[in-house]
Amino acid sequence: MGTSLCALFFGASFACTGTDLGNDAGRDDDDELLTCTEEHECHDLGPGAMCMGGRCMRMDPPPVVVVPDPRDVEIDIAPLIDTNPDPAVFDGTLIVESAPLEIDVGVSTPAFVYRDGNALTDAVRSPGPRIDVVEGTLVRITVVNDLDEPTTVHWHGLILPIEMDGVPDMPLPPIAPGESFTYVFEAKNPALYWYHPHFRSDVQNERGLHGPFVIRPSVAEPVVDAERILVLDDILLDDDGAITGPEEGSSHHVADDGELLMTWVGMMGRQGNRLLVNGVVHPRVPVKRGTVERWRIVNSANARFFLLALDGHTFTVVGSDAGPLANARTVEEILLAPSERVDVLVEMTGAVGSSASLVTRPHDRGHNIADPVDYTVLTLAYDDDEKSPASTAPDLSAPVQELVESAAPHQIVQMNEELVRGGRVGFSLNEELWPDVTPLLSTTGATETWELENRTHMEHPFHLHGTRFQVTSRGPLGGPLVPVVEREWKDTVVVEGEETVRFVTTYEEYPGHWMFHCHIFEHGENGMMGMIEVSGSDDGTTH
Ligand code: C2O
Ligand code: CU
Repeated sequence: MGTSLCALFFGASFACTGTDLGNDAGRDDDDELLTCTEEHECHDLGPGAMCMGGRCMRMDPPPVVVVPDPRDVEIDIAPLIDTNPDPAVFDGTLIVESAPLEIDVGVSTPAFVYRDGNALTDAVRSPGPRIDVVEGTLVRITVVNDLDEPTTVHWHGLILPIEMDGVPDMPLPPIAPGESFTYVFEAKNPALYWYHPHFRSDVQNERGLHGPFVIRPSVAEPVVDAERILVLDDILLDDDGAITGPEEGSSHHVADDGELLMTWVGMMGRQGNRLLVNGVVHPRVPVKRGTVERWRIVNSANARFFLLALDGHTFTVVGSDAGPLANARTVEEILLAPSERVDVLVEMTGAVGSSASLVTRPHDRGHNIADPVDYTVLTLAYDDDEKSPASTAPDLSAPVQELVESAAPHQIVQMNEELVRGGRVGFSLNEELWPDVTPLLSTTGATETWELENRTHMEHPFHLHGTRFQVTSRGPLGGPLVPVVEREWKDTVVVEGEETVRFVTTYEEYPGHWMFHCHIFEHGENGMMGMIEVSGSDDGTTH
């Protein structure tokens, strides 16, 4: 047999271990190193080792990130223009098109962008415009698809009618090339959200389609010296500056016999070799000593987890995905998985004229694969003049009304990874691969406890559409669960390898078939999506 079993299983990015796996797909193997029943039996093989299909396999390390010297570039993201003079209604237009971006200085990278259809400039960038509205606003956004493939916009974390959720055929078809669609919904639950396609998301998001969406409280918030919206991303560029990855984002490649095979990207998701803040690689951001800044951060990367730390500074966390915290907490590191958001206050305590790096630290999200070193995301540069008097951090807390966890879960979602269909690694939910799934069932108004059981050996950021939830307890798979003391409003939660997480949620208003999935886009597109059919409680109809 010409193809090695290793290549057959995983494609070129996987190295098999030992000596014999190569050419004997059907042979009994008595080499203990190669056969396994448990993940830890493979750990001696070093970083990237795993037990899959009864064999030890090993992945290559993640791509090495290139961090150039800091650049003095403006990173603020312009707001989407509202053409409606009525403050209670926001009318905007997003044009989705192909355009070149300059990621590396002087190098053109073909990409996809959201452009403000009402802006007077043709300048394009990724992330897309900042949608910035007050809660209660009626939002109407017309999306014009000028790509030559279908797309949708999913308003991540927003609570809106199912028709406006941007999931293809749930129930509306995606926006065909040359067509447009107007999304209409009311802005609820002040926080930072974001928007991205839900069609070929692994490709379209990586190519630049995402933008921030801020919903502000109707009562004015305490003033800070500066507010920054920071969209963190990474992108995988080849030597010519083109976005790359196996088949440009495909999680698989097709073998001679027609089978789909897994790649590194398919296994771990596509990690990039450039880190972006609001589309800029390593910006230098001027700050003033003595000020207090509010940073609202979203991770829009396909797969990278950012473990953020700021040299000589701490973060005071005041809000999470979908709302403020009841009690602020001060931390030195923040782990932000794909699609999660965090709202933090940063006291600018550095010396006049000094600088400080915001870095992402090595984080092992499973299979012992982590970046080798810290990578700098942005550099703060303290101005030479001191501000006086120093500001103090405002109180942005708000009570979180606690939902009650029930003793027995109403909904159970098991996460699995397994070899399926001749060598592809399938990431499944309840042993089903999207789109062949059996919906969970619920009704509006019901407060339900969900249990997420991660039977894999890597972290999966689980995202639920159409509602927000509170994580109530967590613990090792099969072991005792420990109550979570601080309740937060979340729409995505990281479930660690071999961990159980429980959360409580209520679909308050909108019936429909709501998606849930791993927000590593390559996992979602590779099967790790499911849905819950929420019926209206009042009229008994099923939607
Ligand atoms: Cu941000 Cu269904 O995703
Ligand atoms: Cu996943």
